[in-house]
Amino acid sequence: MKRVLLTGATGLIGGAVLHHALDRDDAVSWVCLVRCVSVDQGRQRVAARLARFTDPFTAQRLARKIEIVPGDFTRADLDMDPRLDDVTHILHLAADTSWWGDERVNRTNHDGTLALARRARAMAGLERFLHVGTAMICGANAPHRVEEAAYPAADARHLVAYTVSKAAAETSLAEHFSDLPVVVARPSIVVGHSTLGAGPSSSILWVVRAADRLRMLPCADESRVDIVPSDWVAETLHGLLFKPNLAHRVYHVSGGAASSASWRDLIGAFEAAEPSDGVRAFRRFDLSDRATLRARFAEVFGLDGSLKQAMLRATRAYYAFCSLDLSFDNTRLLAEGFAPPPSLPAYLATCLANSDEIVEQFADDLEMFTAPVPSAPAALTAIA
Ligand SMILES: NC(=O)c1ccc[n+]([C@@H]2O[C@H](COP(=O)([O-])OP(=O)(O)OC[C@H]3O[C@@H](n4cnc5c(N)ncnc54)[C@H](OP(=O)(O)O)[C@@H]3O)[C@@H](O)[C@H]2O)c1
Repeated sequence: MKRVLLTGATGLIGGAVLHHALDRDDAVSWVCLVRCVSVDQGRQRVAARLARFTDPFTAQRLARKIEIVPGDFTRADLDMDPRLDDVTHILHLAADTSWWGDERVNRTNHDGTLALARRARAMAGLERFLHVGTAMICGANAPHRVEEAAYPAADARHLVAYTVSKAAAETSLAEHFSDLPVVVARPSIVVGHSTLGAGPSSSILWVVRAADRLRMLPCADESRVDIVPSDWVAETLHGLLFKPNLAHRVYHVSGGAASSASWRDLIGAFEAAEPSDGVRAFRRFDLSDRATLRARFAEVFGLDGSLKQAMLRATRAYYAFCSLDLSFDNTRLLAEGFAPPPSLPAYLATCLANSDEIVEQFADDLEMFTAPVPSAPAALTAIA
């Protein structure tokens, strides 16, 4: 019997993995380490996430299949709960995904991951520790086609503290925990769901839609963005967790050359999905020209209220990533026999079909762009 310890079950990818796995894996028991005051509250938190993928009744039924261990993974090394001792597989998804949290983000993503790794040493039957990193640890000075083997790199120029912390976690795991069966999976950019569209999450989808509405890009329209759907990421992580033999220790979970999309393809997909808006004419702008972006944003969305102001800062930050024109090589993954993902243009219409207003969708990502100080007024004082 396999016994999986999952961190991050209440998050986007954690929910997608559980939704994928719980009806399939009768020979697997899932133990979720969840921040909660009681087992019941933890189960309800996971059920709420699952309900984004299915009806509430099924979500409750699936949530009853899991074991909840209340806890914080950053203190896992102090958690001697015996239910963790006979874990055979760890899927470590939990992370602080705020872009600007700095010290707090490092404490969670680096120090916390090492605390979990120390606890993993006491799991005598551990077969795999699947650590989920991010392909963006390559930084802003990476070549357009990013290979797994080149990173983490000491000379990577990071745009945000979040990727610094994820790179550091990988480095420390490799340096100090070579005795553990660690495999690293690095997703690229996770957007929507290939059949449920925006239902499970509108995270980052709002940015692509905002770029379309603004009709502005900081790059040429043949630049690529490597975007993958949450359901494919879940299925692929599930496969990486259980495949008995893997040829490598690090994999991009990404679109790669074949399934990443050019902005031109994405614009074409918007035109096909929303033909009433006609043919789109995009303007290329210089990212350092903050005034032009601000003026256009105000014209399209307005700048009234703190939510829209945070959204402008977040849009600018995402545009910085868009301008890098990156795709993440997935040759290793495909060679293991995993199916390639659908590219965003192929499922964009599905995402648009059940999308809310763009500004409302941004609320799904608001936490990523808030200041680390808990007392920040209305939690909206994002650091641009
Ligand atoms: N989404 C993407 O586009 C993307 C791309 C590349 C890589 N990734 C990586 O994939 C992983 C999952 O991402 P996601 O988008 O699913 O993130 P998410 O939706 O922000 O969820 C983060 C999860 O981590 C949990 N968590 C954070 N700190 C914790 C702590 N101290 N103790 C226990 N749980 C804690 C959260 O629990 P609470 O609910 O209690 O806060 C939540 O379940 C992350 O490692 C991220 O770096 C994501």
